[in-house]
Amino acid sequence: MSLLERIRVTQSFLESKGIQSPEFGLILGSGLGELAEEIENAVVVDYADIPNWGQSTVVGHAGRLVFGDLSGRKVLALQGRFHFYEGNKMETVTFPVRVMKALGCQGVIVTNAAGGIGYGPGTLMAISDHINMTGQNPLIGDNLETFGPRFPDMSDAYSKAYRQVAHRIAKEQGIDLGEGVYIGVTGPTYETPAEIRAFKTMGADAVGMSTVPEVIVAAHSGMKVLGISAITNFAAGFQSELNHEEVVEVTQQIKGNFKTFIKAVLKDL
Ligand code: HPA
Repeated sequence: MSLLERIRVTQSFLESKGIQSPEFGLILGSGLGELAEEIENAVVVDYADIPNWGQSTVVGHAGRLVFGDLSGRKVLALQGRFHFYEGNKMETVTFPVRVMKALGCQGVIVTNAAGGIGYGPGTLMAISDHINMTGQNPLIGDNLETFGPRFPDMSDAYSKAYRQVAHRIAKEQGIDLGEGVYIGVTGPTYETPAEIRAFKTMGADAVGMSTVPEVIVAAHSGMKVLGISAITNFAAGFQSELNHEEVVEVTQQIKGNFKTFIKAVLKDL
């Protein structure tokens, strides 16, 4: 089956489960999936039951899709995403974004845990732009003309309009929201201090192992994106050591603010 056919099969399957006309996709990163628990009139589908879908393997990722009402909007939330470092093909990593578009989502909120280059642990950062350091591009291969052009423009991949809403809400809620460039790597190693020094010179403010592939695919089909990084640690060389436990722990501390913030933003997008 072609990619397009597989997208259609998955779309029909989800529609048959009652997932009709979502307005926004929500991709919830490490430890941030709890937001999906607040979705009302929820239709919940385990990843294992969805045709053509990948499987989550990372601790802190639930591996289920939740559709329903959040802040008066119809949302389709992914509790757990697919990473390239898990051995997934880029097509698997970005397949959910294709399906979100096929189902009718106009916008997507993409969240992640990230290492801070310009920002410290506990901060939320609105992503203004990205640098793709993965050495991959999910659009390599036949172009899906029904989704978008062969050579997509990435100039406004992270919607300025969405960011303005995010900053206004942050101000109202007294949340310290930074803004900056996310540099996406494959992982699974954390970076070396030399890499982080290089990334800093390149203009990066945060580093992480996700988001870039999904945003490329969203931009391809004209979906608007709000990207939010939860900074969980100082990037390599700026603190003594890095580990996943710390990332999960700091996410636990941020998630209260994060949930209130995202819900309020969603209302005004
Ligand atoms: N580097 C890459 N990915 C991350 C980091 C980091 O320091 N922290 C959380 N995700």
